[in-house]
Amino acid sequence: MSKRVGILTGGGDCPGLNAVIRGLLYKATKKYGWEVQGIKYGWKGAVQGITMDINLQNTEDIVREGGTILKSSRTNPYKIEGGVDAVVETMKKLKLDALVAIGGEDTCGVASKLYRDRGINVIGVPKTIDNDLSGTDVTFGFDTCVNIATDLIDNLHTTAKSHERVLVCEVMGRHAGWIASYAGIAGNADYILVPEEEVNVDEMCAVVKKAYECQEYAIVVAAEGARLAGIDVTKNAELDAFGHVQLGGIGERLAKIIEEKTGCETRSTVLGHVQRGGRPSAYDRVLGTRLGCKAADMIEAKEWGKMAAIHGLETVAVPLELAVGSLKTLDMRIHEDSKHFFGANKLHCPA
Ligand code: F6P
Repeated sequence: MSKRVGILTGGGDCPGLNAVIRGLLYKATKKYGWEVQGIKYGWKGAVQGITMDINLQNTEDIVREGGTILKSSRTNPYKIEGGVDAVVETMKKLKLDALVAIGGEDTCGVASKLYRDRGINVIGVPKTIDNDLSGTDVTFGFDTCVNIATDLIDNLHTTAKSHERVLVCEVMGRHAGWIASYAGIAGNADYILVPEEEVNVDEMCAVVKKAYECQEYAIVVAAEGARLAGIDVTKNAELDAFGHVQLGGIGERLAKIIEEKTGCETRSTVLGHVQRGGRPSAYDRVLGTRLGCKAADMIEAKEWGKMAAIHGLETVAVPLELAVGSLKTLDMRIHEDSKHFFGANKLHCPA
Protein backbone atom coordinates (compact mmCIF):
# COMPACT_ATOMS: atom_id res chain seq x y z
CA MET A 1 0.00 0.00 0.00
CA SER A 2 1.30 3.45 -0.86
CA LYS A 3 2.45 5.55 2.05
CA ARG A 4 3.59 9.10 2.71
CA VAL A 5 6.71 9.38 4.84
CA GLY A 6 8.03 12.56 6.44
CA ILE A 7 11.73 13.02 7.18
CA LEU A 8 13.53 15.62 9.29
CA THR A 9 17.01 16.27 10.67
CA GLY A 10 17.34 17.86 14.11
CA GLY A 11 20.06 19.05 16.49
CA GLY A 12 23.66 19.79 15.56
CA ASP A 13 24.31 18.79 11.95
CA CYS A 14 26.97 16.23 11.08
CA PRO A 15 28.51 14.64 8.02
CA GLY A 16 26.45 11.68 6.82
CA LEU A 17 22.96 13.15 7.29
CA ASN A 18 22.47 13.55 3.54
CA ALA A 19 23.44 9.92 3.02
CA VAL A 20 20.56 8.89 5.31
CA ILE A 21 18.10 11.17 3.50
CA ARG A 22 19.13 9.70 0.14
CA GLY A 23 19.19 6.11 1.49
CA LEU A 24 15.66 6.38 2.85
CA LEU A 25 14.29 8.23 -0.16
CA TYR A 26 15.71 5.80 -2.70
CA LYS A 27 14.58 2.67 -0.90
CA ALA A 28 11.17 4.11 0.00
CA THR A 29 10.58 5.25 -3.57
CA LYS A 30 12.20 2.54 -5.64
CA LYS A 31 11.52 -0.53 -3.53
CA TYR A 32 8.28 0.36 -1.78
CA GLY A 33 6.77 2.98 -4.12
CA TRP A 34 6.07 5.48 -1.32
CA GLU A 35 6.24 9.27 -1.37
CA VAL A 36 8.75 11.02 0.87
CA GLN A 37 8.17 14.53 2.20
CA GLY A 38 11.09 16.57 3.48
CA ILE A 39 10.43 18.65 6.61
CA LYS A 40 12.79 21.57 7.08
CA TYR A 41 14.58 22.71 10.29
CA GLY A 42 14.03 19.61 12.44
CA TRP A 43 11.23 19.80 15.01
CA LYS A 44 10.79 23.51 14.24
CA GLY A 45 9.57 22.54 10.77
CA ALA A 46 7.34 19.83 12.21
CA VAL A 47 5.75 22.37 14.56
CA GLN A 48 5.33 25.07 11.91
CA GLY A 49 4.66 22.79 8.93
CA ILE A 50 7.68 23.95 6.92
CA THR A 51 8.40 21.52 4.09
CA MET A 52 10.88 20.96 1.30
CA ASP A 53 10.31 18.76 -1.71
CA ILE A 54 12.88 16.05 -2.09
CA ASN A 55 13.01 13.59 -4.94
CA LEU A 56 15.34 11.20 -6.74
CA GLN A 57 16.77 14.07 -8.82
CA ASN A 58 17.62 16.59 -6.14
CA THR A 59 19.12 13.99 -3.81
CA GLU A 60 21.00 11.95 -6.42
CA ASP A 61 24.47 13.25 -5.50
CA ILE A 62 24.03 14.47 -1.92
CA VAL A 63 25.81 11.45 -0.40
CA ARG A 64 29.05 13.38 -0.89
CA GLU A 65 27.87 16.54 0.85
CA GLY A 66 28.27 17.42 4.53
CA GLY A 67 25.54 19.07 6.60
CA THR A 68 21.89 18.46 5.79
CA ILE A 69 19.86 19.63 2.80
CA LEU A 70 16.82 19.68 5.14
CA LYS A 71 18.61 22.09 7.51
CA SER A 72 18.37 21.80 11.26
CA SER A 73 17.41 23.48 14.52
CA ARG A 74 17.56 22.74 18.20
CA THR A 75 13.82 23.33 18.67
CA ASN A 76 12.08 21.25 21.34
CA PRO A 77 8.30 20.99 20.70
CA TYR A 78 7.81 20.07 24.36
CA LYS A 79 9.15 23.51 25.33
CA ILE A 80 6.74 25.39 23.03
CA GLU A 81 3.15 25.97 24.07
CA GLY A 82 0.99 23.81 21.83
CA GLY A 83 4.14 22.48 20.16
CA VAL A 84 3.27 18.80 20.44
CA ASP A 85 -0.30 19.35 19.17
CA ALA A 86 1.18 21.30 16.28
CA VAL A 87 3.41 18.33 15.31
CA VAL A 88 0.35 16.04 15.33
CA GLU A 89 -1.52 18.59 13.21
CA THR A 90 1.36 18.80 10.70
CA MET A 91 1.35 15.01 10.38
CA LYS A 92 -2.37 15.17 9.58
CA LYS A 93 -2.10 18.12 7.19
CA LEU A 94 0.71 16.51 5.24
CA LYS A 95 -1.11 13.16 5.35
CA LEU A 96 1.98 11.43 6.73
CA ASP A 97 1.76 7.76 7.66
CA ALA A 98 5.22 7.80 9.25
CA LEU A 99 7.88 10.23 10.37
CA VAL A 100 11.63 9.56 10.30
CA ALA A 101 13.57 11.74 12.76
CA ILE A 102 17.32 11.77 12.25
CA GLY A 103 19.07 13.18 15.27
CA GLY A 104 20.97 12.75 18.48
CA GLU A 105 19.87 12.34 22.05
CA ASP A 106 17.55 15.37 21.91
CA THR A 107 15.84 14.78 18.56
CA CYS A 108 15.47 11.05 19.23
CA GLY A 109 14.27 11.89 22.77
CA VAL A 110 11.43 13.97 21.33
CA ALA A 111 10.65 11.19 18.82
CA SER A 112 10.51 8.67 21.64
CA LYS A 113 8.09 10.85 23.65
CA LEU A 114 5.87 11.55 20.63
CA TYR A 115 5.54 7.82 20.07
CA ARG A 116 4.80 7.16 23.74
CA ASP A 117 2.48 10.16 24.39
CA ARG A 118 0.75 10.53 21.03
CA GLY A 119 1.25 7.19 19.30
CA ILE A 120 2.94 8.88 16.34
CA ASN A 121 4.41 6.41 13.86
CA VAL A 122 7.95 7.52 14.36
CA ILE A 123 11.29 5.94 13.43
CA GLY A 124 14.59 7.39 14.66
CA VAL A 125 18.00 7.38 13.04
CA PRO A 126 20.89 8.19 15.39
CA LYS A 127 23.50 10.77 14.40
CA THR A 128 26.14 12.81 16.19
CA ILE A 129 29.82 13.58 15.95
CA ASP A 130 29.90 13.01 19.74
CA ASN A 131 29.26 9.24 19.34
CA ASP A 132 27.42 9.30 22.67
CA LEU A 133 24.15 7.58 21.74
CA SER A 134 23.38 4.24 23.38
CA GLY A 135 21.87 1.33 21.49
CA THR A 136 24.17 1.62 18.49
CA ASP A 137 27.84 0.72 18.12
CA VAL A 138 28.72 4.01 16.53
CA THR A 139 27.05 7.12 15.09
CA PHE A 140 27.86 8.52 11.66
CA GLY A 141 29.61 11.87 11.81
CA PHE A 142 32.04 10.62 14.42
CA ASP A 143 34.48 9.09 11.95
CA THR A 144 34.62 12.22 9.79
CA CYS A 145 35.01 14.42 12.85
CA VAL A 146 37.88 12.35 14.27
CA ASN A 147 39.66 12.42 10.91
CA ILE A 148 39.35 16.19 10.68
CA ALA A 149 40.53 16.67 14.27
CA THR A 150 43.46 14.29 13.74
CA ASP A 151 44.60 16.18 10.63
CA LEU A 152 44.45 19.45 12.55
CA ILE A 153 46.35 18.01 15.51
CA ASP A 154 49.00 16.86 13.02
CA ASN A 155 49.30 20.49 11.96
CA LEU A 156 49.70 21.59 15.56
CA HIS A 157 52.71 19.28 15.98
CA THR A 158 54.78 21.05 13.35
CA THR A 159 54.17 24.56 14.63
CA ALA A 160 54.52 23.50 18.28
CA LYS A 161 57.89 21.92 17.40
CA SER A 162 59.16 24.97 15.52
CA HIS A 163 58.31 27.35 18.35
CA GLU A 164 59.02 24.96 21.21
CA ARG A 165 55.59 25.50 22.69
CA VAL A 166 52.91 23.55 24.44
CA LEU A 167 49.76 23.59 22.31
CA VAL A 168 46.40 22.75 23.80
CA CYS A 169 43.72 21.61 21.37
CA GLU A 170 40.08 21.77 22.49
CA VAL A 171 37.71 19.42 20.71
CA MET A 172 33.94 18.91 20.87
CA GLY A 173 32.07 15.95 22.32
CA ARG A 174 29.90 17.41 25.08
CA HIS A 175 30.00 15.10 28.09
CA ALA A 176 31.63 12.20 26.29
CA GLY A 177 35.31 11.87 25.50
CA TRP A 178 35.11 9.83 22.28
CA ILE A 179 36.38 12.58 19.98
CA ALA A 180 39.16 13.69 22.35
CA SER A 181 40.30 10.13 22.96
CA TYR A 182 40.31 8.98 19.34
CA ALA A 183 41.78 12.17 17.89
CA GLY A 184 44.26 12.38 20.78
CA ILE A 185 45.52 8.84 20.25
CA ALA A 186 45.61 9.16 16.46
CA GLY A 187 47.27 12.57 16.74
CA ASN A 188 49.91 11.31 19.21
CA ALA A 189 48.99 13.73 21.99
CA ASP A 190 51.09 13.91 25.13
CA TYR A 191 48.02 14.26 27.34
CA ILE A 192 44.32 13.71 26.73
CA LEU A 193 41.57 15.08 28.97
CA VAL A 194 38.14 13.43 28.77
CA PRO A 195 34.99 14.35 30.75
CA GLU A 196 34.72 10.85 32.17
CA GLU A 197 37.78 11.36 34.38
CA GLU A 198 38.42 14.39 36.56
CA VAL A 199 41.97 15.62 36.09
CA ASN A 200 44.38 16.73 38.77
CA VAL A 201 46.12 19.73 37.19
CA ASP A 202 49.41 19.26 39.07
CA GLU A 203 49.71 15.69 37.85
CA MET A 204 48.80 16.73 34.31
CA CYS A 205 51.35 19.56 34.34
CA ALA A 206 54.08 17.18 35.54
CA VAL A 207 53.40 14.89 32.57
CA VAL A 208 53.29 17.80 30.13
CA LYS A 209 56.52 19.26 31.52
CA LYS A 210 58.30 15.90 31.14
CA ALA A 211 57.09 15.62 27.57
CA TYR A 212 58.26 19.16 26.88
CA GLU A 213 61.71 18.56 28.38
CA CYS A 214 62.11 15.47 26.26
CA GLN A 215 60.64 16.68 22.93
CA GLU A 216 60.98 20.45 23.30
CA TYR A 217 57.24 20.78 22.70
CA ALA A 218 54.04 19.10 23.83
CA ILE A 219 50.51 18.56 22.56
CA VAL A 220 47.50 18.39 24.89
CA VAL A 221 44.05 17.39 23.61
CA ALA A 222 41.09 18.36 25.79
CA ALA A 223 37.44 17.48 25.39
CA GLU A 224 35.26 20.58 25.77
CA GLY A 225 33.55 18.88 28.70
CA ALA A 226 36.78 17.94 30.51
CA ARG A 227 36.74 18.41 34.26
CA LEU A 228 39.56 19.82 36.39
CA ALA A 229 39.61 18.95 40.09
CA GLY A 230 38.74 21.99 42.19
CA ILE A 231 38.33 24.33 39.19
CA ASP A 232 34.99 25.45 37.74
CA VAL A 233 35.28 25.75 33.97
CA THR A 234 31.63 26.55 33.15
CA LYS A 235 31.53 29.06 30.28
CA ASN A 236 27.87 29.92 30.22
CA ALA A 237 25.42 28.55 32.76
CA GLU A 238 22.40 29.34 30.55
CA LEU A 239 20.61 26.21 29.34
CA ASP A 240 19.30 25.58 25.83
CA ALA A 241 15.83 24.13 24.99
CA PHE A 242 17.09 20.66 25.86
CA GLY A 243 18.72 21.68 29.14
CA HIS A 244 22.34 21.70 27.92
CA VAL A 245 24.93 24.19 29.13
CA GLN A 246 27.11 25.79 26.47
CA LEU A 247 30.53 24.23 26.74
CA GLY A 248 33.85 25.66 25.60
CA GLY A 249 36.72 27.59 27.10
CA ILE A 250 38.57 24.71 28.71
CA GLY A 251 41.45 24.96 26.20
CA GLU A 252 42.20 28.57 27.05
CA ARG A 253 41.92 27.87 30.76
CA LEU A 254 44.25 24.92 30.49
CA ALA A 255 46.81 26.88 28.48
CA LYS A 256 47.00 29.51 31.24
CA ILE A 257 47.32 26.88 33.96
CA ILE A 258 49.98 24.92 32.07
CA GLU A 259 52.06 28.02 31.29
CA GLU A 260 51.85 29.17 34.89
CA LYS A 261 52.73 25.81 36.41
CA THR A 262 55.35 24.58 33.92
CA GLY A 263 56.89 27.85 32.75
CA CYS A 264 56.55 26.63 29.13
CA GLU A 265 55.09 28.97 26.55
CA THR A 266 51.58 27.65 25.88
CA ARG A 267 48.85 28.49 23.36
CA SER A 268 45.41 27.06 22.81
CA THR A 269 43.36 26.24 19.70
CA VAL A 270 39.64 25.57 19.70
CA LEU A 271 38.71 23.35 16.74
CA GLY A 272 35.02 24.23 17.12
CA HIS A 273 32.63 23.77 14.22
CA VAL A 274 35.28 22.90 11.62
CA GLN A 275 35.06 19.42 13.18
CA ARG A 276 31.41 19.14 12.19
CA GLY A 277 31.60 20.55 8.67
CA GLY A 278 32.85 19.30 5.34
CA ARG A 279 32.46 16.13 3.33
CA PRO A 280 31.65 12.90 5.11
CA SER A 281 34.25 10.13 5.21
CA ALA A 282 33.54 7.02 3.15
CA TYR A 283 32.69 5.19 6.39
CA ASP A 284 30.04 7.77 7.35
CA ARG A 285 28.57 7.79 3.83
CA VAL A 286 28.14 4.02 3.94
CA LEU A 287 26.77 3.94 7.49
CA GLY A 288 24.32 6.77 6.76
CA THR A 289 23.15 5.08 3.56
CA ARG A 290 22.60 1.76 5.30
CA LEU A 291 20.68 3.34 8.19
CA GLY A 292 18.47 5.24 5.74
CA CYS A 293 17.67 1.97 3.94
CA LYS A 294 17.02 0.26 7.28
CA ALA A 295 14.61 3.05 8.30
CA ALA A 296 12.55 2.31 5.16
CA ASP A 297 12.43 -1.39 6.04
CA MET A 298 11.39 -0.50 9.59
CA ILE A 299 8.47 1.54 8.26
CA GLU A 300 7.41 -1.40 6.12
CA ALA A 301 7.63 -3.64 9.22
CA LYS A 302 5.82 -0.99 11.36
CA GLU A 303 8.61 -0.93 13.92
CA TRP A 304 7.39 2.33 15.45
CA GLY A 305 9.17 3.90 18.40
CA LYS A 306 12.46 2.33 17.36
CA MET A 307 15.62 3.57 15.75
CA ALA A 308 17.83 2.13 13.03
CA ALA A 309 21.14 1.17 14.61
CA ILE A 310 24.33 -0.62 13.70
CA HIS A 311 25.49 -3.65 15.67
CA GLY A 312 28.64 -5.05 14.14
CA LEU A 313 27.80 -5.25 10.45
CA GLU A 314 24.06 -5.68 11.03
CA THR A 315 21.56 -2.86 10.82
CA VAL A 316 19.00 -3.47 13.55
CA ALA A 317 15.92 -1.85 15.12
CA VAL A 318 16.30 -0.85 18.77
CA PRO A 319 13.76 0.91 20.99
CA LEU A 320 14.28 4.67 21.03
CA GLU A 321 13.90 4.64 24.78
CA LEU A 322 17.05 2.59 25.05
CA ALA A 323 19.02 5.05 22.95
CA VAL A 324 17.99 8.13 24.89
CA GLY A 325 17.87 6.53 28.34
CA SER A 326 21.56 6.97 29.11
CA LEU A 327 24.56 8.58 27.53
CA LYS A 328 27.17 6.29 25.97
CA THR A 329 30.32 7.66 27.51
CA LEU A 330 33.85 6.72 26.47
CA ASP A 331 34.90 3.15 27.10
CA MET A 332 37.63 3.82 29.63
CA ARG A 333 39.72 0.90 28.40
CA ILE A 334 40.51 3.07 25.40
CA HIS A 335 41.55 5.96 27.63
CA GLU A 336 43.71 3.68 29.77
CA ASP A 337 45.49 2.42 26.64
CA SER A 338 46.13 6.00 25.55
CA LYS A 339 47.95 6.72 28.81
CA HIS A 340 50.86 4.50 27.71
CA PHE A 341 51.61 7.21 25.18
CA PHE A 342 51.25 10.22 27.43
CA GLY A 343 54.39 12.42 27.54
CA ALA A 344 56.48 10.86 30.27
CA ASN A 345 55.71 7.35 29.12
CA LYS A 346 56.94 7.80 25.59
CA LEU A 347 59.80 5.38 24.86
CA HIS A 348 62.45 7.95 24.12
CA CYS A 349 61.72 9.98 27.25
CA PRO A 350 63.82 9.16 30.31
CA ALA A 351 61.55 7.83 33.08
O1 F6P B 1 26.35 17.57 19.77
C1 F6P B 1 27.20 18.00 18.77
C2 F6P B 1 27.97 19.22 19.20
O2 F6P B 1 28.82 19.58 18.13
C3 F6P B 1 28.72 19.10 20.50
O3 F6P B 1 29.93 18.42 20.37
C4 F6P B 1 28.88 20.57 20.87
O4 F6P B 1 29.00 20.74 22.26
C5 F6P B 1 27.58 21.17 20.40
O5 F6P B 1 27.08 20.30 19.41
C6 F6P B 1 27.73 22.55 19.85
O6 F6P B 1 26.47 23.03 19.56
P1 F6P B 1 26.16 24.30 18.67
O7 F6P B 1 26.40 23.93 17.25
O8 F6P B 1 24.72 24.58 18.94
O9 F6P B 1 27.11 25.37 19.11
